[in-house]
Amino acid sequence: MGYIEWTSSLDIGIKEIDDQHRILVDRINTLAEAVEMGLDNLSLQGILRDLSAYAATHFSLEEGYFDRFDYRDAAAHKEEHAAFVRKVHVFRSELSEGKSTLSAEVLEFLRSWLTSHIAFSDKKYRSTFLKGGLK
Ligand SMILES: [Fe+2]
Ligand SMILES: [Fe+2]
Repeated sequence: MGYIEWTSSLDIGIKEIDDQHRILVDRINTLAEAVEMGLDNLSLQGILRDLSAYAATHFSLEEGYFDRFDYRDAAAHKEEHAAFVRKVHVFRSELSEGKSTLSAEVLEFLRSWLTSHIAFSDKKYRSTFLKGGLK
């Protein structure tokens, strides 16, 4: 069983977005497994780097659609993304400064941020994106 289980509350109903969200969930699950298995610092850094790179790719996809469809909650939503990016940057610095592992609090932050961001904030753009022609 993964650290994050996919549930229907995470489905937005837009394929391109849902596929990326599943990849993000997989990356967090991979990180949680790596911590559990006691993988070394450098391996954890690599997994966290991949997670943050993929999150950046995903956020820019959503934000590109915000601009394209003139989404009214874009500013607040972009700020949520930016706050996540800042947090992950801190976690990466701590690891690269030699912290031996990621704490349970870091994993819990990633899990709760992603699941609530998808279920509440991402879900709000659904009708705008559908009207814009995404499916
Ligand atoms: Fe998202
Ligand atoms: Fe988002």
